[in-house]
Amino acid sequence: MKIAIIGQGYVGLTISSFAAEFFEVVGVDSNPKIVDKLNLGQSHIEGVDSSILSRWVKSGRFKATTKGNGINDCEIVIIAVPTPLTENRQPDLTYLESACKTIGENLKKPVLVINESTSFPGTLRNFIKPAIERYSVVQVEHLYAISPERVDPGRTDFNQKNTPRLYSGLTSEASDKTREFYEKFCDNLVEVSSPEVAEAAKLFENTFRQVNIALVNEFAQIAHALGISVYETLDAANTKPYGFMKFTPSAGVGGHCIPVDPTYLAAVAEENGAPATFIRRANEVNLEMSEYVVDRIQADNDGSLQGKSVLVVGVAYKPNVADVRETAAELVIKHLRGRGAVVSWHDDVVGNWKGESSSPLQGADIAVVVTKHDSVDEKKILASAPYVFDTTGKVKGAKGL
Ligand SMILES: NC(=O)c1ccc[n+]([C@@H]2O[C@H](COP(=O)([O-])OP(=O)(O)OC[C@H]3O[C@@H](n4cnc5c(N)ncnc54)[C@H](O)[C@@H]3O)[C@@H](O)[C@H]2O)c1
Repeated sequence: MKIAIIGQGYVGLTISSFAAEFFEVVGVDSNPKIVDKLNLGQSHIEGVDSSILSRWVKSGRFKATTKGNGINDCEIVIIAVPTPLTENRQPDLTYLESACKTIGENLKKPVLVINESTSFPGTLRNFIKPAIERYSVVQVEHLYAISPERVDPGRTDFNQKNTPRLYSGLTSEASDKTREFYEKFCDNLVEVSSPEVAEAAKLFENTFRQVNIALVNEFAQIAHALGISVYETLDAANTKPYGFMKFTPSAGVGGHCIPVDPTYLAAVAEENGAPATFIRRANEVNLEMSEYVVDRIQADNDGSLQGKSVLVVGVAYKPNVADVRETAAELVIKHLRGRGAVVSWHDDVVGNWKGESSSPLQGADIAVVVTKHDSVDEKKILASAPYVFDTTGKVKGAKGL
């Protein structure tokens, strides 16, 4: 069986690498540079090994293309394109729409369409299906299902095989075929009663994280005001064997999920007349954390950052990945520069970002650790500046939250 996956990023390429063991996979991506690399067997994301990819490419089980007609003779088409926010922080479904256009314009026989992109409840039924039908050149009755992705890039203990996967089709035939597909490479499939439940569950999972991170970020500020250690307090609370889950403070949340998905839930809530005050406030607390960090650094440095050289250590949104989407480092740098600091950053995992390159880990007046990759030596961080502020809780001996 031949399947197509539209979008070959963190989600799409991960699925491609697992599915290629059982199916012939066509990976469609609008970015020609990504497509060229993939066809050379070179992975551009953490978690997908180039040696495995190159094996699939050589054996003809995986091929990437920018061309929409690459999906022509496939029996299953999976959507894995970005669902970001617009400039005014509203759900942006333009990539999803263009994936629907590709499907509508190129498929002349019925297939199973599975959406893995994260979006609000009702997206499969009220957006994807109608959009594909609108773009279709011939009338075809596709099957439609949702199976929200839970991949955590860079994580090794949980993967496609052992992470339970939710799914639901618009019809029982769609649900059954979706199960048949995923059970080849996923051990635990959980069917829910409607696509809307699966879509909502995905948003709620990430909203749960966002709200708890905001709570611990607020608590870090309370603990500092009270003169107690936030980390020791959290460890103490965590000795309770039930009813508590430990989250740790940070300079804010990043990535394509936690800062974005809750806003999809808030938008659909408000559209339907339900309150989303808690979600909105959690988002604000997390966004404000970068300014709090800079306030603390300024207070410790004679109340002024004017002209001081500040090195931001780690600009990826989380350890051991090169992903900088929505990274808290961006706001930290913005606030530091707004107060007259001369800012550079060190992150050899990211390398280049926003036209700037990673600077050496040395010679600054102030260093602020936003993300601590495993490969970065703690001692070198401490030696990089006479004053080091750590937002991660991992650099012993530094000032911190
Ligand atoms: N990254 C994660 O950890 C993660 C986890 C779970 C769910 N998700 C969700 O999965 C979806 C994809 O996220 P991602 O992290 O893989 O994004 P990504 O940016 O890594 O990859 C998306 C890819 O889609 C391509 N693309 C965009 N529009 C296209 C189009 N019309 N046709 C073909 N290719 C197109 C882009 O070039 C890019 O390579 C999002 O909805 C996201 O919220 C992401």
